[in-house]
Amino acid sequence: MIVGGPASQLLSGRLARELDAELALTEYRTFPDGEAFIRVLDEAVDEVVIVQSTPTDTDFIYLLQLVDAMDVADRVTAVVPYFGYARQDKRFNPGEPITSRALARAIDVDRIITVNIHSEEVLSYFNAPVDDLDAAPLIGGKLESLGSPLVVAPDMGAVDLARSAAESMGIEYDYLEKTRISGEEVQIKPKKVDARGRDVVLIDDIISTGGTMAEAINLLKQQGARDVYVATVHPVLAQNAITRLMKAGVKSIIGTDTIEKGVSAVSVAPIIAKALQE
Ligand code: R5P
Repeated sequence: MIVGGPASQLLSGRLARELDAELALTEYRTFPDGEAFIRVLDEAVDEVVIVQSTPTDTDFIYLLQLVDAMDVADRVTAVVPYFGYARQDKRFNPGEPITSRALARAIDVDRIITVNIHSEEVLSYFNAPVDDLDAAPLIGGKLESLGSPLVVAPDMGAVDLARSAAESMGIEYDYLEKTRISGEEVQIKPKKVDARGRDVVLIDDIISTGGTMAEAINLLKQQGARDVYVATVHPVLAQNAITRLMKAGVKSIIGTDTIEKGVSAVSVAPIIAKALQE
């Protein structure tokens, strides 16, 4: 039985269809004092899969509530497609918490599935066995209609993602490299490939404020790129991120449904279904 939380209703429905599994109905509300309440209206079966991304603190509470509500099942898997706080993966200064570790330890289930978690370190914080799935080839498939764009990571940290999306389609990939020309001047451009006259797809695991991507779009346009698209696994798109990207001249924004937004045109349901079947 698939139990979808408030943040992953569409994805849990798609997953239930992929697996031909029962989809539980949940209801939720907020008490006047702000506390979250959730209830699964269908009776738990032996094997339950909870699907709930945690882009907000309340979504994390819902996840914990669902895990507790399903403690009558024999086996519970938590699918957390977007695991919030994964960027807080280490103690950068004394006195700081490793927030992702505190949250990961609180999820008491038999198995965990995440998608392109920001830091591999976080995987070691869960108490249950965890599989981190790669959605980049699904994004690569979506790029087919664009011909042979150049796939570019905005920094070296996202180059594996660019490779994974591009290789599945047999297209070129690169990353933006910063070179110091002098004390005052830095040059940022694709390391190997010339973007002039080419359509470019910038790809990153998360787009949050859109600042990283907006800067990269501007740079590539200055360097003569034709249309610039942005793609991301996790479209956090906080505050005015969409406007920032549009103002920078993005052609279109491609995201997955790990976070359910208007740009979530790629579903990760097939790779989650495959992992659950395996
Ligand atoms: C950071 O390490 C991530 O991979 C993204 O590059 C970052 O979260 C993007 O943030 P923003 O959209 O706020 O620039």
